[in-house]
Amino acid sequence: MSLRTFILGLVASFGIAWLAVVVIPFFKMRSLEPIVHAEGTEQAGEVFFPKRTGRIVNGAAVYAANGCYLCHTQVIRPTYAGNDMFRSDWGGLADDEDRGDTRRETNAWDFLGESYAHIGVTRMGPDLSNFGRRLEANYLEEGQSPEDWIYYHLYRPFNRADLRIGRATCPPHPFLFEKKKIAGQGSDEALDVDACEGHEVVPGSEVKALASYLISLKKDQAVPAQLDFSPGKK
Ligand code: HEC
Repeated sequence: MSLRTFILGLVASFGIAWLAVVVIPFFKMRSLEPIVHAEGTEQAGEVFFPKRTGRIVNGAAVYAANGCYLCHTQVIRPTYAGNDMFRSDWGGLADDEDRGDTRRETNAWDFLGESYAHIGVTRMGPDLSNFGRRLEANYLEEGQSPEDWIYYHLYRPFNRADLRIGRATCPPHPFLFEKKKIAGQGSDEALDVDACEGHEVVPGSEVKALASYLISLKKDQAVPAQLDFSPGKK
């Protein structure tokens, strides 16, 4: 083999992969145009653009800083890359009270307006793309607020009643909470957990932002037909 063929071979093997995996996706996704829902659908004329502002944006930064993405993905794969739709309520709710089956795959537009797309590194824990939906529909106990569920989960996940013994758990994040002396009647926000005598545990500002972010995770809005890759829901 001549040196020239060898170099051409190298360029072809690495260059084509680099073009297909890095360069083409970069140009396709760097400036996404808003897509309008087609005539004849329920959302006709509306622009497909989820809004994320304020505390939710701060919460995304806390999510990043604490490495939540190391164990949690936020991508429901397009069906051509391996069906994710069978995982219960990951892609949306199989049985939403108002909208029926809302499960669908994630698309690049779902991350519009986010400064970083937290697609995640591994799936040690459940995918969180639609955690906000699942939480409100399935997890809350009578009278419990969504924030409270999240605070107890992050403070001491293995205390949750619905966890099966021997299952991997989310690591505890007690450092996101403040332990402080009870003043007067104590705080309304205090968690019902053991703290030292005369002290209480209250959520800190970071975990409050993180809770807003987690509650906002609802990536199951109806998509325009050109973004719906799933051949069927099963
Ligand atoms: C070491 C891996 C790991 C890290 C890091 C991690 N988690 Fe988890 N997480 C898990 C596992 C495993 C579960 C499933 C068991 C459970 O519910 O505790 C889980 C469950 C959850 C759930 C419940 C999801 C559901 O639908 O049942 C939420 C919400 C969650 N994690 C949020 C977070 C947040 C926020 C962070 C970052 C502050 C984080 N996790 C960091 C492993 C992790």
